[in-house]
Parts: sequence; C-alpha cells; structure tokens
Amino acid sequence: MEFDQELYDYVLNAAKSFESSLDSRPVTPSDEVIKALDYFDEPLSNGGIEATQVIKMLHEVGEPGVVSSRGGRFYGFVTGGALPVAVAANWMAASWDQNGGPSVMSPISSKLEQVAGSWVLDALDLPASSTFGFVTGATMAGFTALSSARTKIYQNCGYDLKADGIRNAPKIRFVMSEEIHPTNIIALQYMGFGKNELEFVKCDEQGRIIPEEMPPLDDHTIVILQAGNVNSGSFDHFNEVCDLAEGTGAWVHVDAAFGGWVRASENYKHLANGMERADSWSLDCHKWLNVPHDSAIAICRDSNVMQDTFGVRASYLVPGSLREGYHFTPELSRRARGMEIWAALKYLGKDGLAEIIDRTCGFAKYCAKELENQGFEILNDVVINQIVATMKDEDKVDDFIKSVQQDGKTWFGPTDWKGRKAFRISISSHATTKEDIDISLKSIQENMP
Ligand SMILES: Cc1ncc(COP(=O)(O)O)c(C=O)c1O
Repeated sequence: MEFDQELYDYVLNAAKSFESSLDSRPVTPSDEVIKALDYFDEPLSNGGIEATQVIKMLHEVGEPGVVSSRGGRFYGFVTGGALPVAVAANWMAASWDQNGGPSVMSPISSKLEQVAGSWVLDALDLPASSTFGFVTGATMAGFTALSSARTKIYQNCGYDLKADGIRNAPKIRFVMSEEIHPTNIIALQYMGFGKNELEFVKCDEQGRIIPEEMPPLDDHTIVILQAGNVNSGSFDHFNEVCDLAEGTGAWVHVDAAFGGWVRASENYKHLANGMERADSWSLDCHKWLNVPHDSAIAICRDSNVMQDTFGVRASYLVPGSLREGYHFTPELSRRARGMEIWAALKYLGKDGLAEIIDRTCGFAKYCAKELENQGFEILNDVVINQIVATMKDEDKVDDFIKSVQQDGKTWFGPTDWKGRKAFRISISSHATTKEDIDISLKSIQENMP
C-alpha cells in the first residue's frame, strides 16, 4: 500500500491549526454556520475523489460546524476536553486499525486494556481483583455492569438466564433514587425491565438518596447508587446504603460516571467514601479523565460474572495468549479504546489526575462565588465541579442561556432543579484555565437580562 504523504501532511496541519484556534474560535457554531453545513447534502456520486480532497472538504466546510468542547470554555453536560496525548494515542490506534475484541487481533490492545483497567482500579482505590470491560460511555457501562449484576442474581437462585430467557425468570427488584441518572433506567429497559417495575427512593435537597427511605433489601435486589448527581454533583450515602445491603445478598451498583474520579484526589475522595464497598461501578473516561469520545469502563468486583454474561463463543474465535477483551463487553469487534486511557494515565500519573480534579473543582467554587456576586442564586452546594444557578426572574433563564451561547465565548445549558428553572455549569476539562473562567463570567455578565 502506497503511503499518502500529501493526505497525512494535510491532516496534521489541519489538526494543528484547529488546536491552536481552540482559545479564540467560537465555542459553538452560529445558526448561519450550521445552515452552511447543507453543503454536504449531495447525492452519492458514482466516482470518488482524491483522499486529500475529501479531508480538505471536511476541514474547510466541516470544521466551522465543530463545537469547541475540547477547549476550556465548554461547560455543557459533563464534558472533558481530550488531552493531546490521548488524541495522539487515538491516532496511533486508528492508524494501527486494531480490533479491541479478540486478543489475537491485537495483543497490544489486550495488554494495554489490562494495564489501563488495573491502573483505574489503583487510582480510584477499588478492589484490585475486579474485572472490567471497555465500552462507549457510561450508559453502556451501566448496561454492562447491570447485566452482570442480573446474571449473578439469577446464578444465585439457580436460574440459567442465557438458556431459559427473561420471560420465565424469577422477579428481580431494582432500587434507586428518584434522582438516578436516566441512562440507568434506559439500560434496564434494554435489559427488559420497565420503569413501572423500579422502586424509586426519595432524595434530600442535594439529590442524595435518603438511606432511611430505603425499602428492605434481599438477594433478588439490585441497588443503583450515584457518585456525582449530573446537576448538583452530590454523592449518595454509600456507607449507609452498603450497611443496609450487607448480608442480604443484594447487589450494589454505583453509577460513578464522572463523580467516581474524585477518588483520585486526596482533597475530594472523602465524598465518595464507601463507594469501594459496592459490587460494580460504571465510569466515563471521556468526562473527567479527558480522553476522546467514546470511552467508558464497567467494573465488577466478582471475577467471573462479566465473562459469564458476555463474550461470543465460536469455534473460529481462537483464544490468544492475552486477555480477551470481548469476554467483558457486549460487543465482539470494537475500537481499541484502552490505549487512550493508558496514554492519559501514563502521561498524567496519579498526581496529574488529582490535579485536574482539584483545579476544576476549585474553578467551580470560584465561578459560583462570582456568579453570586453578579446577582445569581446558586441552588446547590458546590461540592465538586458542578454549579446549578438561577436568576430572580426564572422565566428569563432560557433567553439568557441562548444569548450567552450565541455570544460564542462559553457554552452551558438549562436544567430544572427541585422545581426551579436553572442553568448548569460543569467544569470538567483539563484545558480550562482561570482566564477561561473569567472570560466566561464576563460573557455571562454582559448577557444578563
Ligand atoms: C451520572 C451519569 N450517568 C450516566 C451518564 C451518561 O453518560 P454517557 O453519555 O457517557 O453515556 C451521565 C452523563 O452525563 C452521568 O452524568
């Protein structure tokens, strides 16, 4: 195969110019720019064009339609900005075109997933003998862990789900807070359980489950807790709920999508005390670990249950000498995403990871204080990187958010919090600086109605 020098020279320059524009480009494209993307609405031609021309079109016509979530002023959802080292590892993995499923298809992926997974356990002080699988996002990580939990519950009562199916299966109970992230409910729906079957427990004013409101637990129950409420950033009371679960045979899962990473910081890990007592955890890597999308990890304390749940078996799927990534995830073939996680952790070390957590949480506290000074009302205890705020006239919140977004200096979105119309700011990117926060605060002030 001939090496296309022109193509790779072009893409490298385009990537360089994009990265160097991150601080100055609008955070989100304007309506006109989005309209201009109609350029791509063309019929598929019979003949193709030169590879460099394809990438040139992507660069010249497509790049204006990019949201600069990789920069330091995107505070929507919970969004990390990919670390350069993780992007570079992503390029290497793409160039190698490795299949992260069977180990014979990529010994390097298999090795690095093993190492990256064990480093995540170490950084977060989770049981070292746990098993893990690399998936697309916290939604799928939740699905993966909860499916494993279901396997275990059925194994314990002697029911073979794989052979006999969900229709005749014994009843399983699911207990979670009324503030649980909705992707957990979706994951359960994918597994065949409807919303009306779930038991929701009341929360306090910060969105934390109230342990005294928990129903009795038993060995047919899966409890889902949360490390980091998507709005307030609050943490469920892990020790209290794990005390209730202990000895009952109930399985405790923690959706630790972003909040779980605080365990890497000496200053914030107390917030997730007791999380290590759960049976499974789901964490996004494309949030606070700042690797490119898509990336997450599902972890189970039980060393067999993930393999009992997943992994296609076929005579042509010969085992290699290393870990079989597909034995731990719903997919067979997939991206070798463990490489970026390995690269990010190798680059950051434990200290670098803790520094990102500490710095972004510090910015959230500073930002909340300045917002208060500007006359906004902060609705949550700013315990980590999340701010929920509103203004006197809540009817104006939507217009205010829109005008800040249109200003292009920063981006955040709306939410409802305890019946109040509000906006939410999530500071999760390694790229965010104090200057970024100040530029954002200025834009907020200037766009206040
Ligand atoms: C607590 C929690 N769980 C799950 C998710 C879903 O994550 P993903 O979009 O990566 O699937 C999120 C997203 O913000 C979250 O905050």
